[in-house]
Formats: sequence, C-alpha cells, structure tokens
Amino acid sequence: MSLTGLFLCTFLAEHLAGNLLLFVNDGGEMYEKYSEFLVSNPVIRTIEIVLFASIIWHALSGFVVWLQNRRARPVKYEEYRLGDNTELASRMTMLSGSVIFFFLVIHLGSFFVPLRVTGSDVGAYHLVQEKFSSLWFSGFYVLALLLLAYHLRHGFQSAFQTLGLRGKGYDSILSAIAFIFWFVIPLGFASIPVYFYFFRRASGAAFTLGLL
Ligand code: HEM
Repeated sequence: MSLTGLFLCTFLAEHLAGNLLLFVNDGGEMYEKYSEFLVSNPVIRTIEIVLFASIIWHALSGFVVWLQNRRARPVKYEEYRLGDNTELASRMTMLSGSVIFFFLVIHLGSFFVPLRVTGSDVGAYHLVQEKFSSLWFSGFYVLALLLLAYHLRHGFQSAFQTLGLRGKGYDSILSAIAFIFWFVIPLGFASIPVYFYFFRRASGAAFTLGLL
C-alpha cells in the first residue's frame, strides 16, 4: 500500500504540473497540445496501465486492511478522539479513500472517457471549462480535494512508519515532502475549479447548477 500510494503521489505531482497549463492565458492552446501529447505518446499510455493497476491495488488493499482492523478489534473504544484513536483514524482514512474512489469514477467519466475513449466534440481545455461552469461539479471537486488532503496527510504518516523512515535524522525533510503532497498539491488542484467557475466560465453558462 505504501509503495502504490507513493507512486500515485508522483502521478499527482505530474498531473498537477500539466493541469497548471490551464492557467496560461492563451485560450487553451498549450493545454490542448499537452493533452494531444498524452494521447499520442505510447510510453504515457503504457504508464497509464501501471497507474490504473496501482489505483485498483491500493483501493483493494486499503479495504482489506480496514476489514482486518475491524476484525482485530471487535470491542469498541469508549471514546473517539481524532489523532490518538487509531480506529477513528482508520475509519476516516477508509471514508476519505472511498470518496476519492467515487471522485475518480466521476472524474474519469467526465474527462478521460470522452477525451481518450469515446471522443469529444470539444478539446480538453473547453471540456474542463464546460464542466467547471457548474457550481455542483466544481463544489464536488473542492470537497473531494479537501478529503484528498486529509487522506494524504494520514497516508504519508503511515507510509513513513511502514517503510521505517522515521527517526533516522531526516524527519524534517520527510515532513516537508509530506506537506507539499498533502497541502500544496490538493490546494493547487482545488484552485482549478475555483478559477474556472469564477473567472473562466463558459459563455452562456452563468451560475449553472447542473451536475454533469
Ligand atoms: C481538479 C483539477 C483536475 C483537472 C482539471 C484534471 C483533468 C484531467 C483530464 C483533462 C484528464 C484526461 C486525460 C488528460 O488529458 O490528461 C484527466 C485524467 C486523469 N485524472 Fe485528472 N484532473 C484533475 C484532478 C485530478 C485528481 C485530483 C486526480 C486524482 C486524485 C486525478 C486523476 C486522474 C487520473 C487517474 C486520470 C487518468 C490518467 C490520465 O489520463 O493521465 N485528476 N484529468
């Protein structure tokens, strides 16, 4: 789980870097080029298979670990306190992980499938613009990204623990890396729906409430 989790984090960093091209004020030209490069590059398409396998592996192992934790502790804790109660932390990680999985299904259905599988009438930039013109869609993204931040914060703690990296004299570097992944990256992603909803809404889509 730790290794697939860390691999998925490297994808997140790359994905955010590419998506920051959405902020270039050129009507989406660079973003379209980036998207076309992703579609046509065989190396990227191969890495994608590893990526999807890692997502499934990570989600399934998380579910199994959560089930094992439940079986190992049939008697409930008397008091729930976030931070020093591992059962609650494990529940919250499972809950945030499930919402992220649901988010991914919606996300892939909204972008990956039309752009890479079925074909879309509009290019990547305009599809992003169209989708984030909806308040519900953008709001759902911001909420999912908040949960992603929570999930990554706890995920990094347990990954460092599992891999035995803590207490070796470089804890502050590890904390800085974790901070970039659990705070800066989700914040960067969340800025995209917020920016599009408020400043780049598709013309004619003023304050739409449509979800998809
Ligand atoms: C909020 C800003 C985001 C935007 C605008 C965005 C945009 C896109 C687009 C346009 C695609 C289609 C393929 C492509 O051209 O790359 C895609 C694919 C994908 N996205 Fe996102 N994404 C965002 C956030 C996320 C987050 C937070 C995750 C993970 C938690 C994620 C995971 C994926 C995955 C796994 C794929 C399929 C693999 C790939 O195409 O590279 N995305 N995204």
